[in-house]
Amino acid sequence: MGDVHPALPESAAIDGDGVLMLGGCRITDLVERFGTPLYVFDRASILERLSTCVTALGPNGSLHYACKAYLATWLLKLLRQAGAGIDVCSSSELAIAIAGGIEPQHIRLHGNNKSGPLLAEAIARCIGAIVVDGLAELQEVISCARGLRLRASILLRLNPGIEAHTHRYLQTGILDSKFGIPVTTGDARLAVGNALAAPDAVELLGYHAHIGTQILELEPYELLMQTLLSFAKEVYAETGYTPSQLSPGGGVGITYTDETPPSLASWIGALREQVERAGMGGSLHLSVELGRAIIGTAGTAIYTTGTVKRVGDIRTFVSLDGGMADNIRPALYGARYAAIAGTKMHAPNTQTVTLAGPYCESGDLLVAGVDMPNLDPGDLVVLPAAGAYCLPMSSNYNGALRPAVVVVDNGSAALVQRRQTLQDLLALDV
Ligand SMILES: Cc1ncc(COP(=O)(O)O)c(C=O)c1O
Repeated sequence: MGDVHPALPESAAIDGDGVLMLGGCRITDLVERFGTPLYVFDRASILERLSTCVTALGPNGSLHYACKAYLATWLLKLLRQAGAGIDVCSSSELAIAIAGGIEPQHIRLHGNNKSGPLLAEAIARCIGAIVVDGLAELQEVISCARGLRLRASILLRLNPGIEAHTHRYLQTGILDSKFGIPVTTGDARLAVGNALAAPDAVELLGYHAHIGTQILELEPYELLMQTLLSFAKEVYAETGYTPSQLSPGGGVGITYTDETPPSLASWIGALREQVERAGMGGSLHLSVELGRAIIGTAGTAIYTTGTVKRVGDIRTFVSLDGGMADNIRPALYGARYAAIAGTKMHAPNTQTVTLAGPYCESGDLLVAGVDMPNLDPGDLVVLPAAGAYCLPMSSNYNGALRPAVVVVDNGSAALVQRRQTLQDLLALDV
């Protein structure tokens, strides 16, 4: 965590002119070269988080980076370097992972509606695991593997019926969810039976569950592990089957404003403790799938201030040159962000403002009610913790062009994704 702001990377600093620096680069220099809106990723921060997880998991564990949080080929290189695998949930993500050199055995495929061709490709490539999301999909995997004369490695995604304390849209482990095979209805038991009855077609590695995202407490995970482990014990008592792998998914929260998430090492320690307590510590492989906690605070969004509008004494709107087209999270589910006057770091706060995007939606507000110094057109405003679930959900609404992406490290900045151009947009019109 950075000293400048808890949601900025460790490398964040302030230069003598009161300008924010990221990875040793002044943001004014970055903006001069690459424009705004600009997404800046701190390489050291990503590597540090990856290696913390890989080390804490040890040889009997693995990290699969959940690439829905953010995916680009430059990042795959860092995953390979750190010894992490990847969790993909579409044929495009699978193709990008493979193009980026991730070994198939380090890829795990998710999704609640995987197509036949996608399953066939995953089986033919012998990926690490297909995470089976339902009884019908299991049958499809079995017949597809038989057709290909191959044996698919699978995990069963269980729906444990656990409510994590996070936004309703971010909960995935409650019974009324489209994800997973419910434990309480008996479907999970049925799925295990069906998988074990088809040993020629599938190798059942074990059980998976994912209860949601931006989870800040350890308790839901402890409950999840207890649910998975007691399910494993029940199945063992009935069938003699022992899983070789257990995965509690991902979902560990990050600091956006003032949240205090558990450290990744303590989270992994708590998971391990549950496995030990259940007497399964010796052989069970623990695999986790973190996205946000790896990439979230490594990414920072930079915007340029435009018009300032005071609406009586109700509110002051400061408009930025980006908003819901590059970061829909505040509009989609009320996500909260901090905001920093990146070119006036030493100036005292003098006003409470709402940071608005330029798009034609009243809900296009990035941060409502944030204390700021006086802001003039041309000042840079920075949103920390913009690394996860912003760019992958970005759109071309109002003809917005997707932002450029830069990686900073030790005073150097590399453009890793260029800004979209109008030609890119027009290229789709036939
Ligand atoms: C199955 C699965 N695993 C892992 C993740 C990653 O979650 P997070 O980015 O919060 O770690 C998600 C995202 O919701 C997911 O659906």
